[in-house]
Amino acid sequence: MSVAKPLPHDAAPLHVTGQARYIDDIPVPAGCLHLAFGLSPIARGRIRDLDLSAARSAPGVVEVIAGADLDPIPDCSPSAHDEPLLSDGTIHYAGQPLFLVAATSHLAARRAVRLASLDLAEETPILGVDEALAANSRFEDGPRIYAKGDVEATLARAPRILEGRIEVGGQEHFYLEGQAALALPQEGGDMIVHASTQHPTEIQHKVADALGLPMHAVRVEVRRMGGGFGGKESQGNALAIACALIAARTGRPAAMRYDRDDDFTITGKRHDIRVDYRVGFDETGRVLGVDFTHALRCGWSMDLSLPVADRAMLHADNAYDLPACRITSHRLKTNHQSATAFRGFGGPQGMVGIERVMDHVAHALGRDPLEVRRVNYYAEAQAEPAGASGGSFPAKMKQGVRLETADLAGRGAVAVPQSAGGSQRYGGAHSPVPVPGRDGLTPYGMKVEDFILHGLTERLAESCDYAGRRAAIAQWNAANRVLKRGIALTPVKFGISFTLTHLNQAGALVHVYQDGSIQMNHGGTEMGQGLFQKVAQVAAQRFGLGMDRVKITATDTGKVPNTSATAASSGSDLNGMAVRAACDEIRARIAAVVAPDLQAAPTEILFEEGMVRAGGAEMSFEEAVKRAYMARVSLSATGFYRTPDLQWDRIAGQGRPFFYFAYGAACSEVVIDTLTGENRILRTDIVHDAGASLNPALDIGQVEGGFVQGAGWLTTEELVWDGQGRLRTHAPSTYKVPACSDRPPVFNVALWDQPNRAETIYRSKAVGEPPFMLGISVLMALSDACAACGPHYPDLQAPATAEAVLAAVDRARGALP
Ligand code: MTE
Ligand code: MOS
Repeated sequence: MSVAKPLPHDAAPLHVTGQARYIDDIPVPAGCLHLAFGLSPIARGRIRDLDLSAARSAPGVVEVIAGADLDPIPDCSPSAHDEPLLSDGTIHYAGQPLFLVAATSHLAARRAVRLASLDLAEETPILGVDEALAANSRFEDGPRIYAKGDVEATLARAPRILEGRIEVGGQEHFYLEGQAALALPQEGGDMIVHASTQHPTEIQHKVADALGLPMHAVRVEVRRMGGGFGGKESQGNALAIACALIAARTGRPAAMRYDRDDDFTITGKRHDIRVDYRVGFDETGRVLGVDFTHALRCGWSMDLSLPVADRAMLHADNAYDLPACRITSHRLKTNHQSATAFRGFGGPQGMVGIERVMDHVAHALGRDPLEVRRVNYYAEAQAEPAGASGGSFPAKMKQGVRLETADLAGRGAVAVPQSAGGSQRYGGAHSPVPVPGRDGLTPYGMKVEDFILHGLTERLAESCDYAGRRAAIAQWNAANRVLKRGIALTPVKFGISFTLTHLNQAGALVHVYQDGSIQMNHGGTEMGQGLFQKVAQVAAQRFGLGMDRVKITATDTGKVPNTSATAASSGSDLNGMAVRAACDEIRARIAAVVAPDLQAAPTEILFEEGMVRAGGAEMSFEEAVKRAYMARVSLSATGFYRTPDLQWDRIAGQGRPFFYFAYGAACSEVVIDTLTGENRILRTDIVHDAGASLNPALDIGQVEGGFVQGAGWLTTEELVWDGQGRLRTHAPSTYKVPACSDRPPVFNVALWDQPNRAETIYRSKAVGEPPFMLGISVLMALSDACAACGPHYPDLQAPATAEAVLAAVDRARGALP
């Protein structure tokens, strides 16, 4: 068995010894040029004049190009053709590239940039949400609205009504490897590009466009990224295009990497969001209707903002069956970096809105927020998985995974046996009085059929002793004046699939060599998440071989074409299936060759333990491969997969955009200092649903990392732009990502090891993004701690920096409005 084993990341030894090769480690050929952008210091205006003569004559400089020197100016946008590589005369944000320097060294290029003399006409930038709304500065004609039921009528007759607002900040990706690209010119004008990108096909496409070449003339290769987190879905386009452009003009290789400050200043980040809500509910905490208004600052260009804002709307319900719900989403065009994909892709922003509503409702009723959450949950799915009939359901897998998860106990992981039908005690269909309109339909009309959060929540609440600790915290708070503790348990339900339906496809290319070793390619990219290892485990499993027989290779547009970005957490779902298809094709061909030798039908032949077997007869895999080769049978195959059962109308906001949901829940306990607002996570317990995990070690790594990154977003990571639209937090000195010491000192992470009900690769579930939203438990625990300071709702904003916590404490006490 290769699948379900907690194998380490394939490149772990290379990572820790510094041998893993990133873009900037690739030895460059002689004559390589190094590039740097000259950036706009102003957020909005026009170029009157650029005097680049001093830069041109600086030591080592080979070329200096401004937008005016290019006709047409290459476009970098992944969506709307609205991102000229260099300003076309109009300036849209502070940090926008105005000109490009190519020099013989990285330092020479950066030095030359500073010699430019810029004559710019400054205009007043549009920065704030209200300014943008007032100026009707937005993408799309008006707000997008998704609705279920009659919200106004529901709110009008609801026994209780509350309204409020939460502002949630953006987030810098802070991938350890910054953006980088290297272009190598080939004969006849062809181009090879190495890029740190989640989306090699897009780089190929944009570079081909920029150079006026067909896509077949451009090949893009990506061995790995030092982190992407969504920040390398589109934000690497500019560097790759710049390198290709200079390489084409000069015939010399060209390399570019952003300095960390430039990376902050130039590239897009997570969208910040302002969520306004009005909620109607009854005395038992059952929510009858919610009216949400989302306002997202998208920055200067469209980029991926529309699907990001859509996904925020699609997660406005999170785990809750809302009889009536309306979400109005404003996608605002502002003079900032163009906000982009970031782990969760808008989902986290939408989810914070409804979690905030649950917290607020509970406070108003004086009830435990967990009880309010549970009574509003969707109904639990039936115990028997829908697709579990027949031989396709891997009953053995369950045990296998549980066993291997238990092996991880040494690193804080515990296997959690699932309870069969989930709780009968709480919420959803089990509520004593049915709530009209509670029909298991999301606000976008998709039936939630795989809901497991009743059982999962109960398991977590028990294993972390939620009730006992809540009581102990209340006592502790009564006895302590300065320090206050808080606790919160919050759920996650995250939709898996690209909402742009056609992106849900993947290809693979598998070669079996004469010696029985295997080379595996697919369209997915490796950014640390462990995709390559998981998919290699699938290949090894299909052939019944050890991992040492499978070579993991760089992603290459020349091997697998027309790929989607590795995003939406779908990497292993899509590429795992595509690789499986390729392997099975080759297996079938080998089986046909050796079946007569083994005196069996081809369909009876098994590939296991390095052998090819049927009945009592067997031969080694190598021998079978040799026979297939001698029989002149191809040992190479492509594989393809497309996700079934999707249909989605993003304008109407109706359909089935997701193949399935991934679930999880986290319980966090925090302490705050009411004099300074300083705060700390004391303990976090997580149960997360990765289906029948392909690799529990990697999946637990994703859960831990996702949680910490989510907690960082909502606590210490604060982006600050000044009144002129200049980003003031553009380095780790001022922008605080979580450090190792910010990891909860008690951190219990377990996988909920029930197989996926949907037919995914070995019944696993996507795990890349969903755990990010477990970080919301920290924000809610902080809210709980602030609420312990006084009778009023603390109205905690995010990120909950020390200042925000202090303000919330004051509000709880009634000292602030
Ligand atoms: N984990 C690591 N270590 N580094 C990353 O850059 N990106 C996240 C997540 N986990 C990321 C990561 C994001 S945004 C996504 S969409 C998924 O991984 C993508 O990979 P997958 O589809 O293979 O899960
Ligand atoms: Mo992830 S934000 O979908 O790259």
